[in-house]
Amino acid sequence: MTRILSAVAWPYANGPRHIGHVAGFGVPSDVFSRYMRMAGHDVLMVSGTDEHGTPILVAADAEGVTARELADTNNRLIVNDLANLGLSYDLFTRTTTLNHYTVVQEMFTTVHANGYMVERTTSGAVSPSTGRTLPDRYIEGTCPICGYDSARGDQCDSCGNQLDPTDLLNPRSRINGETPEFIETQHFFLDLPALAEALGEWLAERAASGTWRPNVIKFSQNILADIKPRAMTRDIDWGIPIPLEGWVDQPTKRLYVWFDAVIGYLSASIEWARRSGDPDAWRGWWNDQEALSYYFMGKDNIVFHSQIWPAELLAYNGEGSLGGTPGEYGTLNLPTEVVSSEFLTMEGKQFSSSRGVVIYVRDVLSRYQPDALRYFISAAGPENQDSDFTWAEFVRRTNGELVAGWGNLVNRTATMIHKSFGLIPAPDELTEADEAMLATVRGGFETVGELIGRHRQRAALAEVMRIVGEVNKYVTDTEPFKLKDPSQRGRLGTNLHSLAQAVTDLNTMLSPFLPHSCNAVHAALGGSGEVAPLPRIEEVQDLDGGAGYPIITGDYRSVPTWESHPVTVGAVVGKPTPLFTKLDDSIVADELERLRTERVTPGAQR
Ligand code: MF3
Ligand code: ZN
Repeated sequence: MTRILSAVAWPYANGPRHIGHVAGFGVPSDVFSRYMRMAGHDVLMVSGTDEHGTPILVAADAEGVTARELADTNNRLIVNDLANLGLSYDLFTRTTTLNHYTVVQEMFTTVHANGYMVERTTSGAVSPSTGRTLPDRYIEGTCPICGYDSARGDQCDSCGNQLDPTDLLNPRSRINGETPEFIETQHFFLDLPALAEALGEWLAERAASGTWRPNVIKFSQNILADIKPRAMTRDIDWGIPIPLEGWVDQPTKRLYVWFDAVIGYLSASIEWARRSGDPDAWRGWWNDQEALSYYFMGKDNIVFHSQIWPAELLAYNGEGSLGGTPGEYGTLNLPTEVVSSEFLTMEGKQFSSSRGVVIYVRDVLSRYQPDALRYFISAAGPENQDSDFTWAEFVRRTNGELVAGWGNLVNRTATMIHKSFGLIPAPDELTEADEAMLATVRGGFETVGELIGRHRQRAALAEVMRIVGEVNKYVTDTEPFKLKDPSQRGRLGTNLHSLAQAVTDLNTMLSPFLPHSCNAVHAALGGSGEVAPLPRIEEVQDLDGGAGYPIITGDYRSVPTWESHPVTVGAVVGKPTPLFTKLDDSIVADELERLRTERVTPGAQR
């Protein structure tokens, strides 16, 4: 048993999440975590909403509410969506808890004391019309390196290079298009060059493990070459104050997202432990060198997880070239693996809430089954190359694979058992065909498990579905529905027993992907209880006296182990109801029409 931290990217609370987001960080982290629990590991899966910073302020302004009000509303929406999708967080919290403030400030204090946080005068952008500071992300211009004309002030999404707003050619404000003015301002910079050597050693060791996706490790090693100090504070009034004399009372100096939300992985682990009644329980995942940690995100976040966050951890640990000593949290583990996905497009276009090219998770969930969306994302998501969501493909996969493949196998198995025995029959002697089919199914545990463990979820799911096809073929070949003569009763029982076993095993293998229907299949074959535990939403008090909020949590420890579990002879099998809803082809046109007419979220980006 190994302790495994599943660290899932923190979605901005600037609006509801779209399916591109959950395809990038949500479903893949959940499939992985569910599988690892079944494989016997002690998984801690944490995340929360990222509620500070400019994206929230801009959206709040556009809606005429305060940043806190906007964050409260969207935190609730996002919590609902992620829970309804069945994402099994041990804790999904938020960055506005007092616990998070304390952890972030402790990190800052120690990193500063160790000498890795340096004060610098820098040039900051302000909007000439409003006098407000204009954060890097809200400045757009031409990339000086590749010439891309919509590079952001903090990075170019075309060539991936990190930028400063002053690097951009023809800089303009993304809020109102005006040309920003640059003024002098004081900020704290993380001394990345002093951490570069340690970072390089860590990356070399990670590269040698051979487990990272090649593009992620290559990109991470490349960007080490021109590493520069990076600002960790901003001129903004919505965020965590800088815990230093002369700074803490300044109303417009706040920590930046990369010294805020990214620390949430640690603060959420601590919050989880405090809520569990054993306040030190988080240390097993963070201080124990045997523990593993996997970080899930979209590719626009790689640099922050493979450079900035590990650098902050090294600085906290005192492991850069300036030395130092760790603070009260002790020596913290660096990521084992940064698992980044590529981008999902929709109907060939980039998702854009502001342009209305978007499908929100909650809209999909209001019309379709959560497992249909999970299936599409797992089977066709942007795992190691960009992929496209189309409604036609969604219908094709749902009807052709879920309904006609897996759903049909479950349904015909349960129907035949219900009609001829009413319960799971005992087997007679197994034929070669029965044995071969059961062996094929059992073999799936190893191949499928291994693929999920290597973040090859598309291949893993394709392998389960291939086996589903084999079992459907077994039904066609052995024709149990023709075994009507009383003299064939023994053969029929053996055949159906074998099928029940195959369906049960396949259901176990599918449960990380399709937890909702997994519970339904389990019940259809006479099982009791939940075999794929689902998350729940709980209203909690802030642990340190702040306002209450909803969390996602759950008890996921009772999962079946990742292996074949013999079916229970005699378990009652009733008349089954269809597992998956067949979709009418007309929904494609309906959904495309909706896309053309749907509202546009004000202030939303990405
Ligand atoms: N909310 C930010 C984004 O979506 C950061 C997410 S990852 C975290 O880009 F590490 F900061 F949490
Ligand atoms: Zn570029």
